[in-house]
Order: sequence, then C-alpha cells, then structure tokens
Amino acid sequence: MKKATKVLTLALAMVMLAGVLTACGGGSKSGDTLTFGTNAEFPPFEFVTSSGVIGEYDGIDMAIAKKIADENGMTAAIENMEFDSLLIALQNGQIDAVIAGMTATDERRETVDFSTTYYTATQVMIVKEDSDIAKATDMADKKICVVQGYTGEVCVQEMGYTYEAFKKGTEAVLELVNGKCDVVVIDSATAQKYVGDNEGLKIVEDASAFESEEYAIAVRKGNTELLDKINSSIEKMLSDGTINELAVKYTEETTAE
Ligand code: ARG
Repeated sequence: MKKATKVLTLALAMVMLAGVLTACGGGSKSGDTLTFGTNAEFPPFEFVTSSGVIGEYDGIDMAIAKKIADENGMTAAIENMEFDSLLIALQNGQIDAVIAGMTATDERRETVDFSTTYYTATQVMIVKEDSDIAKATDMADKKICVVQGYTGEVCVQEMGYTYEAFKKGTEAVLELVNGKCDVVVIDSATAQKYVGDNEGLKIVEDASAFESEEYAIAVRKGNTELLDKINSSIEKMLSDGTINELAVKYTEETTAE
C-alpha cells in the first residue's frame, strides 16, 4: 500500500470505530432496550415469581421500570445481581440504571447520580414477639443481624454495635426465627413482608435513631439524557397516583397468605 492509501484507510477505520462507539454509547434511544440492574431479594420492591411484570421479575420497582421504558418507547430488561455489585455494574456500562429500593445516600452520590425520590422508607428492627427490645439502644448487648451492603448495615455500624451480615434478608430473618440472633435491622416495607410471612415476629420502630431514607433510581454520573426521562416518568407516576397504587397492590399481594 502507498503511504497516502494507508493514511486514508486508517482515517476511515477510525471514523467507522467512532460510529460504532456512538451507536453503543447512548443506550436510551427509541426502540432500544433499557437495562435495569436490581437485586430481586427485596419484596415488595423486587422478587422473583412465575410470571412477573418483566419476565420473572415482579414488584413495585419492576412495575415502575417497565412504565419508564414503555413511556419512552423502550423495552425494559432486568439484570439480577448481588446488591453490592449494582453500582459497579452501572459504572461499567453493564446496565443503564439501578432500581433496587436503593436509598440515595451521600456516599453513593459520590459515584452515581440519583433520580427524584419515588418512595420514602426507614430502617426498623424485627424482633421476636416477646423481645424486650423497644428502642435502638436496646440492641447494645444483643446479637444483631443485617444484610450486607444495605443501609441497615451502615446504621448499625455507625451506632458502634457488632453484628453479623448476611447475603439475603431471608437468611437474616431465618436466623432470628431460629433464635440464633435477637434482632434484624432492615427497611420498613420489606420488614412488614417478613413479619407477615413468619409467625412470632414483630416490628419495633425508633424514629429518633433511624432517619428516613429516600429510594431513587441511579444512573451513571452525567447521564442527564436518561435521568431526565426517568425523572419525568417518576414525577408523572407520583402525581397521578400510580406509585401509590403499586405500593398498595404489592404490599397486599406479598403479605397475603
Ligand atoms: N434501602 C437499602 C439500601 O439502599 C436496602 C436496599 C436493598 N435492595 C435490594 N433490592 N436488595 O441499602
């Protein structure tokens, strides 16, 4: 090849590569797939069932994800993974957004951007019905169970208590049911679900110890194109009562025997 042809070929290759990069980089055009990452171990927000709203995935978050995609002419897809892996997968580009009953914390805001809040929750304590735990400080000399990477773990850590962390909420609750731990600290709506599913448990709240937590959808930092779409969908679903209806529907459904 002559030098001029070589340069031309190289230039052409670079233009083609740039074209490929932009075609893959957006991920939020009409007709595209909008891939949400979640950890489907968190009823009533996300759980696995025989026929869910997106494939086998169902719950408040899954219904919200589907509506966001539908409204923007996209197809919602779910990637189910460990809770701890979600923000890394988002940064890697493996998923476009995270919807996982995820609390928008300052620490997480350092690495990702969060949407408008769509649900407000708080940490609560699940204990045996005959427990003498009445407030958070009563946990001081008790055996505490949390779920790894959840805000409940951070709370207990900040209180300076020792605890055991489990991979799943159901595992922590089983430990409590079996009398191997005294208290599980976890998000309120999920706690309601576990108490409904297991005999002999109750919820203890302590508003002075646990702040309210705002659930939001995470996107990569600076992905304002997608964030704007998500925010306008959320705002619409908040004002027309859709999110309220979903919360009622899935709270009843997942606690019914
Ligand atoms: N709200 C808590 C947090 O952000 C727990 C979320 C757990 N979500 C889940 N899909 N497993 O840390």
